[in-house]
Amino acid sequence: MDFITEHSKRIDQALQSLAIPESPRNLYDPLRYFFTMGGKRIRPILTLLAAEKFGAKSQEALPAALAVEIFHNFSLIHDDIMDEAPVRRGKETVHKKWDTNIAILSGDVLLIKAYQQLNTYPEKVVKQLHTIFNQTAIEVCEGQQMDMDFENMSAISRSSYLEMIKLKTSVLLGCALKLGAIIAGANETQQQQLYDYGINMGIAFQIQDDLLDLYGDPSLVGKRVGGDIIANKNTLLMILAKEEANSSQLLSIKKLILEENTEVKIQGLLKLFEKLQVKEKTEKLMNSYYKTAQESLMKIEAKSNISALWMLTNTLINRSY
Ligand code: IPE
Ligand code: IPE
Ligand code: MG
Ligand code: MG
Ligand code: MG
Repeated sequence: MDFITEHSKRIDQALQSLAIPESPRNLYDPLRYFFTMGGKRIRPILTLLAAEKFGAKSQEALPAALAVEIFHNFSLIHDDIMDEAPVRRGKETVHKKWDTNIAILSGDVLLIKAYQQLNTYPEKVVKQLHTIFNQTAIEVCEGQQMDMDFENMSAISRSSYLEMIKLKTSVLLGCALKLGAIIAGANETQQQQLYDYGINMGIAFQIQDDLLDLYGDPSLVGKRVGGDIIANKNTLLMILAKEEANSSQLLSIKKLILEENTEVKIQGLLKLFEKLQVKEKTEKLMNSYYKTAQESLMKIEAKSNISALWMLTNTLINRSY
C-alpha cells in the first residue's frame, strides 16, 4: 500500500472511532453518515507529512490532522447548503437527506469537535495551533462569502477570483501544513515556507476543482456535473470565457446565465467555452500554480524531488476527482 493510501486509511479509522453519541439522532447521524462517505483526506495527510518532514512521528500530529479534516467536513456540509448541491462524494448531501436546519447544526457541532482535537496538545502548543487555525477559519468564511457575492456580479477580475479561492480553499491547505510543522517544532521560517507552498498548491487545487465540476467524470467526482454553472458561480472558466468573448458571444453568455432549463444552459455554455478554448486556458493557469508550488517545495527540500510531499503534489496534479 502506498503511503498516501495508508495515511488516508488511518484518518478514516480515526474519524470512525471518534466517540459520537447516539442521540439526538438528527444531530449525530449526519456526522456518522458524512465520515463514512470517503473523501481524499488531502488536508490531514498534509499535516501528517509536514510533521514527519520535521522529525515528528505522524502519530503526534494525528489529532491536528483530524481537526483539519473535521473542519473541512463542517465547511462542506455548510457549502452544500449555500451552493444548493444535491450530491457530495457520490451520496446525497446532508441538507437533502435530512434538512437544512439539521445540516446547519450538525455542521456547527463538527466545528466544535475540530477544536476539541486541537485542545489535546500541551498548552503552549495549543496557543500556536489556535492562532493559525482561528485565522484560517475566519478567512474561509470570508472566501465563502465572496464566492456567494460573486454569483450576482457580471464581471469579476482574475485577481478578485484568485483572492476569493485563496481564502475559501488555499489557506486551509497552508494551515494543514503549518499545524504539522508547529507540532514537529519547526522554526517560523520553515513554517512559513511550507504555508506558502500550500497556498500555491491550494490555488491550483481549486482551479482544478472548477475544471472537474464541468469536465470531470461524475462517477468519480461525486458531485452534480455543471453544478457551478447551475449556481451561477464565477469560476475561472466563466471569468476567462467572459474575457475572451467578443460582444455577441458575451451577449450569448449573459443570456445563457439567465436560462432556466439547466441542460440548455450547461450545453450552451459548454459549446461557447469550447469555441473560446476556455478549458485549455484554465488548465494552463492551473499548471502554472502547480509549478510555482513545486518550485517553492523544491526550495524547502533543497536536495531531492522524491519526498512524500512532492509525490503527493504529483498525485494531485493528476487527479481525476
Ligand atoms: C472540496 O475539497 C472542496 C474544495 C475546497 C475544492 P476536496 O476535493 O478535498 O473534497 P474531499 O474531501 O476529497 O471530498
Ligand atoms: C468549496 O468550494 C470551498 C469550501 C468548502 C470552503 P466549492 O463550492 O467549489 O467546493 P465543492 O466543489 O462544492 O466541493
Ligand atoms: Mg460547493
Ligand atoms: Mg462553494
Ligand atoms: Mg467546486
